[in-house]
Amino acid sequence: MTLWPRTLLWRSVLLIAALLVVAHLAWLQIFRASETEPRALQVAQQIVSVVNLTRAALVTAEPARRFALLDELAQREGIQVYAGDPAEAVPALPDRPFLRIMEARLRQDLGAQTRLALEREGVAGVWVSFRIDNEEFWVSLPRSRIERNTPLRWIGWGALVLALAVVGAFLVVARINRPLRELTRAAEQLGRGRTPPRINATGPVEIRTLAQAFNNMAADIQRQDEERALLLAGVSHDLRTPLARIRLALEMLDDRGASELKAGVAQDIGDIDAAIGQFLDFARPIDAETVMTEADLNALVQAVVERYTPLGKNVQFTPAPLPRLPLRAQALQRLLSNLIDNALRHGGDSVDIKTGHDGKTVYLEVMDRGPGIPPADAGRMLQPFTRMDHARSTSGTGLGLAIVDRIARLHGGAVKLLPREGGGLRARVELPSA
Ligand SMILES: Nc1ncnc2c1ncn2[C@@H]1O[C@H](COP(=O)(O)OP(=O)(O)O)[C@@H](O)[C@H]1O
Ligand SMILES: [Mg+2]
Repeated sequence: MTLWPRTLLWRSVLLIAALLVVAHLAWLQIFRASETEPRALQVAQQIVSVVNLTRAALVTAEPARRFALLDELAQREGIQVYAGDPAEAVPALPDRPFLRIMEARLRQDLGAQTRLALEREGVAGVWVSFRIDNEEFWVSLPRSRIERNTPLRWIGWGALVLALAVVGAFLVVARINRPLRELTRAAEQLGRGRTPPRINATGPVEIRTLAQAFNNMAADIQRQDEERALLLAGVSHDLRTPLARIRLALEMLDDRGASELKAGVAQDIGDIDAAIGQFLDFARPIDAETVMTEADLNALVQAVVERYTPLGKNVQFTPAPLPRLPLRAQALQRLLSNLIDNALRHGGDSVDIKTGHDGKTVYLEVMDRGPGIPPADAGRMLQPFTRMDHARSTSGTGLGLAIVDRIARLHGGAVKLLPREGGGLRARVELPSA
């Protein structure tokens, strides 16, 4: 087990706390470094005054009063004066900037022979020497004169500020973390195959974008699941029905004429083939095809229309001048043949196709003279596996318009199933031209 926490929340809090401690210590260090010199000079100044006053007092006092004077200085100020000897050795000063600055200043003000020590004859204190007529004296002051007062209190305040900052960091990080936790929980649900509730897209932009992307992804997955279930149900129904008929036909082979049965079986096999084609079109990853830049929609339509001529179908195409468009050629051919097949199957024998261009849209219309689709049902017919009642008798999967819709949307366009003037359906595909 390591002490490094596993959650983002505590890692962030810990990192922020560490950063604050380092910043605090750095700041403290800078403060101490910049404060050393003025403090050393100030203390030196005070000591110079004490020594000068003491020396003056000693020089001017009557010899008989000197002892009383020294006694009083010791009692009142903690200042003690001793006679010394210039030859006497005192322990060297510790190598600290503060003491070095102080010593230099004392020598400058009190004379070059001035000595500074923190211990003399085994007694601790601030020891400063001075001379009266080549005789050396030592003044001893309490150590407290050069020590900084109670750094402990400052450490205490510092710790308090630090603690408050860490609590603040915790609150901030926890706030950012909340939507992340929600996302994590939803992702876990999704992973277990359940549908998570939509996540509230609130908070900072990054989190909002993430939540939206996640919501979209969850919705996509759900839709794909539903489509797959539909597809499987459709496959089993649409393929098994003609297969069952073929089996039945084979069993009746003895009772009826073979040529009649053969035609029926051929029809069923054709239906199965068409159904499989639709299933594959529907299941195909739709954006796999690369976009042809600058395609000519009219030429593309013409190519598809020509496929119907040898079959004896009456498909008329009236092109209009169009701007060139970025298209997926194969997908668009699939879209068009689905619409023509529908018109021929559900609508009747003649199909009119028109292209055109108004404003920013290029449109393609496939029209017939059949029963049409009532406006109320138009939206529903674009869903996979939906068919109108009158289509039940015809073969088909109900996937055609779903494929058309998907291809149109892939091109940034839309499909509209409109009533045709004079009766019939006007299937209109609108594509953006810009
Ligand atoms: N041109 C049309 N005229 C009348 N009804 C149509 C036409 N095109 C499509 N429909 C209706 O929309 C339904 C869905 O069409 P589609 O998705 O292509 O499925 P399918 O053609 O396999 O039945 C059809 O079953 C039919 O009821
Ligand atoms: Mg169809």
